[in-house]
Amino acid sequence: MEVRKEVEVDKLDALRLMAENFGNPLELVREAISNSYDAGANNIKITIKREPWEGLQRWIVKNLDDGAGMVLDEIPSNQNTGNIRNFFSLGKSMRKGETQGHAVGEKGLGIKIAFHSEYLNISTWAGGDFPLYKIRCYKPWARIFEGKLPEYEYEASADKGKPYDSHFTEIEIVGFYDNDGTHFRADEIDDYIRWFTKWGSFEERIRKHLLNEQAAIKLHLGKLRPPPSGFVTLIAPGDTSPRQIPFGHPFPDIGFDKIQPNEKLDTVISKLSGISFEDMVDRLEQAKKKHWRYIPKVGILKDIPDVTWQAIISVEGEDAKRNYNPYLRQRHRSEKYTYKAEDRYGLWFCKDFFCIHQPIMLQWRYSVKRANELVLKFY
Ligand SMILES: Nc1ncnc2c1ncn2[C@@H]1O[C@H](COP(=O)(O)OP(=O)(O)O)[C@@H](O)[C@H]1O
Ligand SMILES: [Mg+2]
Repeated sequence: MEVRKEVEVDKLDALRLMAENFGNPLELVREAISNSYDAGANNIKITIKREPWEGLQRWIVKNLDDGAGMVLDEIPSNQNTGNIRNFFSLGKSMRKGETQGHAVGEKGLGIKIAFHSEYLNISTWAGGDFPLYKIRCYKPWARIFEGKLPEYEYEASADKGKPYDSHFTEIEIVGFYDNDGTHFRADEIDDYIRWFTKWGSFEERIRKHLLNEQAAIKLHLGKLRPPPSGFVTLIAPGDTSPRQIPFGHPFPDIGFDKIQPNEKLDTVISKLSGISFEDMVDRLEQAKKKHWRYIPKVGILKDIPDVTWQAIISVEGEDAKRNYNPYLRQRHRSEKYTYKAEDRYGLWFCKDFFCIHQPIMLQWRYSVKRANELVLKFY
């Protein structure tokens, strides 16, 4: 006799595992930005501050966006509209399949890390005649550890005294990740947003530098939503006024050097052959100040031909890097947020056009006639 059994899933354990450990509390900012982007937001305001909550100092992270908002049971007005139930459910997402090819979210997991907190407070309005929803979730993490599923309560108000002119979502998270605030300073968050969130996507660079439309279609860039025209406004410790972060990963402005745009790196280097070692060092010294254009590359995976990849290579001299990146460490140490070039520059693996995996340092050996071997290191 054949016996069939269903796979069993422990809901509580699944929730706990999702939100238990992560490398950096700023992942909350990454997930919130992804969701705002998916909701079609053009502007996001992120406020991070320490304030008393229930009598104790707590870190409070607030993410306000002008995206399409969320509904509960109503039929959403457009494909960007989010859903409150999905916000609180594991594995439920409206960002699935072809209907929203550009979406960063797809698994309904991302924002569940917010359960690792003491309090969630959400206001959202999908615009028009939709009600304004206020949702509260009290001590989700403590509940999980008491063996209970978190609960949320909501209030729908139809009154027209909407706090904003347009549809919006505001998510407030109190005491995230056991109230860990080690990374919550303006410089570090600013840098994190430009490198490790959807707001730091390099998709526009690829689009701009692709040779023709055909290549862009091959890249499926046509599916991406138009880049947000607004800013992330960041209000965080260390700043006296808000700072504004435009969409897209920063690159040095196109250089002033004589090297042809999109010239192959091999060609560039081989031009250096036949010159004296002193000349070469001199040229490299100069090259510090320069950079070569971004070199976009596209392809398909050899063994899985339905998977396409895109790459962008930006060769930047030391000074060129420093010109746009204020967080590169100078020789003297300082109290400010900084890092070494080799800790940040190198080969990155990306998803949705932003960095997700540790860089690999690239080294390139180059033999100079009659002289020593020269090792170029690329950070
Ligand atoms: N800022 C937001 N605006 C509108 N909807 C949102 C927002 N944040 C979350 N949501 C809703 O919550 C759901 C779950 O989010 P998440 O757990 O990050 O999974 P995913 O992004 O993969 O769908 C989203 O699918 C969306 O419906
Ligand atoms: Mg998400």
